[in-house]
Amino acid sequence: TVTTSFLKQLPKVELHMHIEGSLEPELMFALAQRNNITLPYDSVDALKQAYNFSNLQSFLDLYYQGANVLQTEQDFFDLAMAYLKKCQQQHVQHVEIFFDPQTHTDRGIPFEVMFNGLHNAFEQGKHEFGISYELILCFLRHLSEDAALTTLEQAKPFKDRITGIGLDSSEVGHPPEKFKNAFAAAKAQGYRLVAHAGEEGPAQYIWDALNLLNVERIDHGVNCTQDPELMAHLVETKIPLTVCPNSNVRLKVFEKMEQHNLKALLERGLKVTLNSDDPAYFGGYMLENYLNVQNALDLTKEQWWQLTANAIDATFTSNARKVELY
Ligand code: ADE
Ligand code: ZN
Repeated sequence: TVTTSFLKQLPKVELHMHIEGSLEPELMFALAQRNNITLPYDSVDALKQAYNFSNLQSFLDLYYQGANVLQTEQDFFDLAMAYLKKCQQQHVQHVEIFFDPQTHTDRGIPFEVMFNGLHNAFEQGKHEFGISYELILCFLRHLSEDAALTTLEQAKPFKDRITGIGLDSSEVGHPPEKFKNAFAAAKAQGYRLVAHAGEEGPAQYIWDALNLLNVERIDHGVNCTQDPELMAHLVETKIPLTVCPNSNVRLKVFEKMEQHNLKALLERGLKVTLNSDDPAYFGGYMLENYLNVQNALDLTKEQWWQLTANAIDATFTSNARKVELY
């Protein structure tokens, strides 16, 4: 039987986590105070009350607002270090982290201020906690492709420390096609490619992320069930899906965890992985996702090992590190 202590002790790998989404309400208030920013909430509790989302956009509005408290290199460092401490507590051994430069550069924070703060924290986490990491820069899909290309240019001096390029923010109405040239440019520069697709958007966006953007992993992808041919294709090509169960329930992609298709996708043979997305906004980190999934879907031990193996296989880390993680 799968017990809570089994799930706690399982070594974990996280492949879908937005660093801005790990900003806990308490830290948001502390950084607001440090930077003389007034938040539109009277208290941590009032802010938490607002975390009652009806869809992706209603979350994104608060997520971008929250990120305004991030001003200095130290702020970005503190944000990432708080996440790494959670990882250490929950036996998370390798992480691949999304960051959204445009959320910061568009309000006057220099790219290097944001990037150095994050990078220094993840280096410290590697040396102090043994948590290996890769960084993935995401383009905001509600902005233009030209803006994405500008961001890719700004990233050039830091290229050696950035593993991949991703695509996030408001999905419906911003199809993968919009970023064809930006992804082609990123690939030519040697980046690994991923994209959010099929979270709220249709199965066609998953096809387009694969065929037009040439991504190696699909972030979310749960709407693939709309298209049996796509399901067969994902099984055959072993394209990993980075699924985020708590996120999907909080953003009403599934009404209840009992209705989540994670177990069905796993049993159909898809390379499913389990991740936290925006843990400070969606009720928890890796372990809280594990516990909620187990409670609702009752996976077997073998299925938990399969999810873990899928995540190790799907990482962008070295083969030597993969062997260590196994
Ligand atoms: N940015 C942060 N979390 C996101 C999500 N779940 N979907 C799209 N963009 C995001
Ligand atoms: Zn996400």
